[in-house]
Amino acid sequence: MPYITPIVADALREHYDPALYPSLSANWPEGFLVATDPSDVPIAFLLGVHQVEGEGRVLMFAVDRDHRGQGLGTLLMNEFLARCREKQLRRVTLEVRVGNATAIRFYARFRFSVVDLLRGYYSDGENGYQMARDVG
Ligand SMILES: CC(C)(COP(=O)(O)OP(=O)(O)OC[C@H]1O[C@@H](n2cnc3c(N)ncnc32)[C@H](O)[C@@H]1OP(=O)(O)O)[C@@H](O)C(=O)NCCC(=O)NCCS
Repeated sequence: MPYITPIVADALREHYDPALYPSLSANWPEGFLVATDPSDVPIAFLLGVHQVEGEGRVLMFAVDRDHRGQGLGTLLMNEFLARCREKQLRRVTLEVRVGNATAIRFYARFRFSVVDLLRGYYSDGENGYQMARDVG
């Protein structure tokens, strides 16, 4: 948690209480993926949760700024989708800031499409998109 908290603060511009992470992943610990550098320091993570029958949800997903564009995000997303398949989930959803063009392009490459506009979804008032795809 001490390593993930600064990645979240820098990348997602939202404050999340780190004490919540273990409880969020309690019913599906395999949905919480962390990538580390060779010294075992976390540099990327994907917190996926299972809250709705048949669905996985990407609650938080970030790669440390200095390690982006090297395929880590792709690695984590592919592994998450594989774990959704193993759990026989049918659909995956996520939310993203409408201004986050990099992440939206990334998700589109993974066949996510926009299913809803979430007005004022973020704490600074920015709108969000809900995106979704079939696990396939
Ligand atoms: C979105 C995010 C998680 C992607 O992680 P990433 O590790 O940079 O992703 P990848 O490296 O796998 O892919 C990013 C791009 O680099 C390219 N890439 C992949 N491997 C590469 C490599 N070895 N060398 C160079 N480029 C590479 C990909 O083609 C991809 O291109 P795209 O911009 O067309 O999608 C990351 O940008 C991030 O943490 N952003 C801030 C937080 C955020 O927005 N999270 C999502 C909130 S909903």
